[in-house]
Amino acid sequence: MSSEVSSGFTPPPYPYDRLDSIAEVANKHPGGMIDLSVGTPIDSPTKEVVEALSTSKAEKGYPASLGSVELRKSMRDWLARRFDVDVPIGNIASCIGTKEFVASTPWYLKLRSPSKDTVLYPAVSYPTYALGAELAQCRAVPVPVGRDGKLKLEFIDQKELARAVMLWSNSPSNPTGELDDLDALYNFANSTGIPVFSDECYCEFTWSGQPDSILRYGSENVVAVHSLSKRSNLAGIRVGFYAGDSELVDYLALVRKHAGMMVPGPMQHGATVAFKDDFHVESQRRVYLERLEFMRTLFTSLGYDVPAPKGGFYLWFRSEFEDGFELAAELARDLGILVSPGEFYGGDSRPFVRVAMVADMSKLELIAQRAQKKDRV
Ligand SMILES: Cc1ncc(COP(=O)(O)O)c(C=O)c1O
Repeated sequence: MSSEVSSGFTPPPYPYDRLDSIAEVANKHPGGMIDLSVGTPIDSPTKEVVEALSTSKAEKGYPASLGSVELRKSMRDWLARRFDVDVPIGNIASCIGTKEFVASTPWYLKLRSPSKDTVLYPAVSYPTYALGAELAQCRAVPVPVGRDGKLKLEFIDQKELARAVMLWSNSPSNPTGELDDLDALYNFANSTGIPVFSDECYCEFTWSGQPDSILRYGSENVVAVHSLSKRSNLAGIRVGFYAGDSELVDYLALVRKHAGMMVPGPMQHGATVAFKDDFHVESQRRVYLERLEFMRTLFTSLGYDVPAPKGGFYLWFRSEFEDGFELAAELARDLGILVSPGEFYGGDSRPFVRVAMVADMSKLELIAQRAQKKDRV
């Protein structure tokens, strides 16, 4: 191998692949490991959506990269119902789930503004924001997050502002469950000229106040990013969208069209049906709330200090350990659960763990029984 190749980019290990030894411990419990690490939905999507996936007649031809008119109308109507905003369908475009959008957008923005080389993102956050910066050969510069979960925008150095191609925000936050001030973020975008991309994929699961979107404050220089994965238990069909500033959306939609980024037609059909219905979201909200309350009560009874999240479906807490891997190992040993160590979400998160509410009540009750028996393995 030439030295030029070996000195290039080496992808970091995928975070969850680092949990094998902890999973082994959890698995020794009778009944096996209960996996609360990855935030993957376990509940069923509606039967109408599943039916729509096989009745679209959209298999033959290439699908629209933007998303079909029907799909984008359903997205527009959902935005109007959910946030009382009126976004023209020309300012809405689909993506293949939002992870690929998060990972690829810095690169496309840097191509457009080659003199900029910095991506600003929350210091405690979903790992793909930083990785996307790296893939774009940008500097990933974390923005400190206050105890209240809000980005400390005033702490960003002027030099970083001058170099920033974009800023990511995420409210409700994965992993902290905190809410940010989207009005302030909108003002930041417009006072600095730095595009703000507001990842709002957990908005339906807002527990404190009403769901918010940056689009409620305006659309100039901001883009809201949404996904069906969590809202409708459709992580498997990979549908999301981005909406907002017309120039940003037009630019990204055109580049992405050239690059062949298309949500498959049958998935677009299913997604249209999902966005038209809010009833299933209401019942899913009750499911997550029940699990969050049950697990929070359980952890509290075991002596952990676990705040109630203001949004999302994660519990985020620490113990006396300085390394969340140790807390994760303790929880695997005592309760047979697998959780995510805080380090996955950035340097400041190291002592924490994130626990995803992705097991049904019978499994959560099994965890409570293990806790009572102090079933150590
Ligand atoms: C904050 C955040 N953004 C984006 C995503 C990506 O979701 P998807 O690609 O399924 O839309 C996730 C997934 O967990 C997430 O937590």
